[in-house]
Amino acid sequence: MDLRQLAQDWEKFAKTDPLWAILINRERRGNKWRLEDFFKTGLDEVNGIMREVESMNLKIGHGRALDFGCGVGRLTRALANYFDEVSGVDISESMIRLAEKYNREIGKCRFYLNQRDDLRFFGDDTFDFVYSSITLQHMKPHYTTKYLNELLRIISPRGLLVFQLAEEQIGLKTLPNRSRMLAYKIRSRLMNRPIMEMHGIRKQSVISIISNDGGKTLKVERLPDQGPGWRSYRYFATK
Ligand SMILES: C[S@@+](CC[C@H](N)C(=O)[O-])C[C@H]1O[C@@H](n2cnc3c(N)ncnc32)[C@H](O)[C@@H]1O
Repeated sequence: MDLRQLAQDWEKFAKTDPLWAILINRERRGNKWRLEDFFKTGLDEVNGIMREVESMNLKIGHGRALDFGCGVGRLTRALANYFDEVSGVDISESMIRLAEKYNREIGKCRFYLNQRDDLRFFGDDTFDFVYSSITLQHMKPHYTTKYLNELLRIISPRGLLVFQLAEEQIGLKTLPNRSRMLAYKIRSRLMNRPIMEMHGIRKQSVISIISNDGGKTLKVERLPDQGPGWRSYRYFATK
């Protein structure tokens, strides 16, 4: 799926059931997420990460932060408790509009639409902290690689990049699984429903992408799987 199609699909999710598309939960399908519960999950996630950063004894600045693939600002809003200014970037215009609406009272958040495969409107060394969660796993790996290069470029020399990415377990690409995925895509397109693709990059390859770009992976931690056969990791990296 190319970026144009990706943007169109996320736009459809944003217009129909945005919170469910962001945090899939069978019981919350059909706009059943309570906003308060939804945003509480973001607060818990960011609080946990900030505790971890502190325990790593990293002296990061608390000026500017970026949330890449911000959706409606679930994590952007929580990051504003720790940073002076937080930017959220998303590929879907409706997600950005919702993020602005839900986070209006938090003056520190700014939201940007970006449908390019780079982040050229942010200069080098801009951010003290860059975060991305459950976003890079939903695009083709060559886009993920390009964005990782960009995210490393825009963190400051003493800044920290933290991101989640999935890894496909060997054996998942069996014929029945491929057929199921193909059937889901055909059915969705025929019914004019958006598709959420899932892609992984192996842990060792992610570490190589970071080091090929002159970065350093400080830590990788295993997260709960993103569904059967999809291992998930959180990476902590610096320039
Ligand atoms: C599963 S949601 C996660 C949203 C947010 N990170 C959170 O955890 O609340 C994935 C988000 O990534 C956005 N997205 C997908 N591809 C993107 C891209 N290439 N650039 C920016 N945002 C993207 C989607 O529009 C969607 O809002």
